[in-house]
Amino acid sequence: MRFFAKLYQFLQSQYLKDKHREYMRRFKIDPTARLPYLENTWFHGNITIGKHTYFNGGRIVTGPNSKVVIGEWCAIGHNVNIIAWTHDPEHPTGPMDKRPTIEKDIIIGNRVWIGSNVFIRESVTIGDNSIIGANSLIIHDVEPNSIVGGVPAHLIRYKNGSQQV
Ligand SMILES: CC(C)(COP(=O)(O)OP(=O)(O)OC[C@H]1O[C@@H](n2cnc3c(N)ncnc32)[C@H](O)[C@@H]1OP(=O)(O)O)[C@@H](O)C(=O)NCCC(=O)NCCS
Repeated sequence: MRFFAKLYQFLQSQYLKDKHREYMRRFKIDPTARLPYLENTWFHGNITIGKHTYFNGGRIVTGPNSKVVIGEWCAIGHNVNIIAWTHDPEHPTGPMDKRPTIEKDIIIGNRVWIGSNVFIRESVTIGDNSIIGANSLIIHDVEPNSIVGGVPAHLIRYKNGSQQV
């Protein structure tokens, strides 16, 4: 039993090293950014992640004509979904190559803290120094220095001052 556990751990760590190498090659991830839960992370498309930001797992998805840009020093919690490419509500189902899709950029500023289980929809911009509460649904832009939360998210309050790193 111990042999198989060790073998599994070895293969898992090799797989994660390979995946990390591949993600650093395929996406514009600063070398100081961290993806500590790579086994629970899935990226697709045009993705930029800035210096010292960490992403604790979830999905980031763009289409061929959209992008997700995440700034510096962001703290992104567990199971966060940032989805810039989605269904057209008028034609949401049917063969993948025949149905229309919608894609719009998502831009996340610097020093943003995103709580766990947040969903961020296409076209949203999140301002610097803001906080997104756990389990929130972000369908509108978020002002800099604000704290928002809920489904859909609403303003809870503004922060007292802008945070310096
Ligand atoms: C958003 C957050 C930072 C606010 O913290 P806070 O300033 O201490 O806020 P409070 O707990 O005093 O709550 C203030 C108000 O916001 C509401 N609120 C707090 N978090 C909320 C959330 N996630 N969604 C909706 N409303 C929220 C509270 O219900 C309260 O409303 P009320 O005054 O009408 O009762 C915190 O609640 C949060 O979600 N943190 C993220 C935790 C997390 O995901 N950690 C993962 C590790 S990275």
